[in-house]
Amino acid sequence: MDAINLNIENTLNFINTEKLNLLMQEAQKALVTLEKGNGLGNDFLGWLNLPESIDYKEIYTGISELRSKVDTVVVVGIGGSYLGARAVISALSNSFVPTKPEILFAGNSLDENYHNDLFNYLQNRNFGIVVISKSGTTTEPAIAFRILKKMVESKYGIEEARSRIIAITDKERGALRKLADKEGYKSFIIADDIGGRFSVLSPVGLVPIALAGIDIAKILEGAKDMNRFTTSDKSIEDNIVIKYAAIRNLLYQRGKNIEILTSYSPKLFFLVEWWKQLYGESEGKGGKGIFPAGVINTTDLHSLGQYIQDGERMIFETVLDIKTEGARVAIPEVKDDLDNLNYLAGKDMHYVNRMAMQGTLLAHVEGGVPNIELSLSTLDEYSIGALLFFFEKACAVSGYVLGVNPFDQPGVEAYKSKMFELLGKPK
Ligand code: PA5
Repeated sequence: MDAINLNIENTLNFINTEKLNLLMQEAQKALVTLEKGNGLGNDFLGWLNLPESIDYKEIYTGISELRSKVDTVVVVGIGGSYLGARAVISALSNSFVPTKPEILFAGNSLDENYHNDLFNYLQNRNFGIVVISKSGTTTEPAIAFRILKKMVESKYGIEEARSRIIAITDKERGALRKLADKEGYKSFIIADDIGGRFSVLSPVGLVPIALAGIDIAKILEGAKDMNRFTTSDKSIEDNIVIKYAAIRNLLYQRGKNIEILTSYSPKLFFLVEWWKQLYGESEGKGGKGIFPAGVINTTDLHSLGQYIQDGERMIFETVLDIKTEGARVAIPEVKDDLDNLNYLAGKDMHYVNRMAMQGTLLAHVEGGVPNIELSLSTLDEYSIGALLFFFEKACAVSGYVLGVNPFDQPGVEAYKSKMFELLGKPK
């Protein structure tokens, strides 16, 4: 597929290619298991069919009333119930001009100052809410929604408030489903077989993304093509899902316990956050798993660059390269050239950024950090859709190769029970 390319050349000096071939075969078997649906967590494979099965027109119809009446939408959710939407919206919208409607996020922390700032800001906005929670009982979004619901009701009246709230939740279980049915909110269903971190191409991600004015049909198109190009019948050599799953497991076996997803665009900050959750929650269990970290360069070359180049050698990097940018920002020629930058005059910032990326990659490889390169031909809806699906599919395959159930998250309950005890939650 032209939109995305994977190059593992800069890992080969760190591994044994025979072992890589064996792991590629293992990854292919894992992909067959995923396709046949007979592996661990196989009751959570609904996400695999989303690009083909989801009716995006239903989403546009469902959001049209809210979209027509507000200038701001607050998306309430945490973890898999917000990161995908936030990743895509940040990647594909202007960094300074808010989308129309403006999309804001709440309930992804318990920070009082953040929420207080948001609630004050909303005083002068014409706003609505999209509340997303599969379980319908997660504390952070439940608290934020309780406050926001009161705000909408007191500002617009109970009846009007009902048309300003969209709920995305389970079809029958949980407090949010009960409330949505009781109040008659427009609602979308999160299917039983789709876990939070694999839900970006379900209404969980697509509703906020569509509200932001981003073309969800094109996103799904990219995902669909990625799915087609990475089925288990494709040659192992060309299958980037198999290759990525195999190489990261092999590097892990070689003591590279940390994978850094490196982007050279701050617009991809939340994409890196989404990826961290996807891989961290899917693989980090039973005392195993690569720790997923992220950096945004060149910014972080001035902070974490030192460690990556020269610190403990348990790191490998996956570098996200965007080959062509839409914008062209050229470096001007100046007469006195006091900053000695005239040698770059006429070049655009993207060129300098890519040279920084290529130079850093070479330096890191020389410093003992294997680098996987993942290139996007351009940053648009189609390639983001392909990228999201690539990461999801490769994550499932990689988890199977590691020998874990990539679709559960038993570890996230531990903090909750301690917190509830401290809060005195009735049993
Ligand atoms: O991936 C996951 O399953 C989690 O990150 C959940 O999405 C997150 O905990 C939020 O859960 P819920 O949607 O039930 O509120």
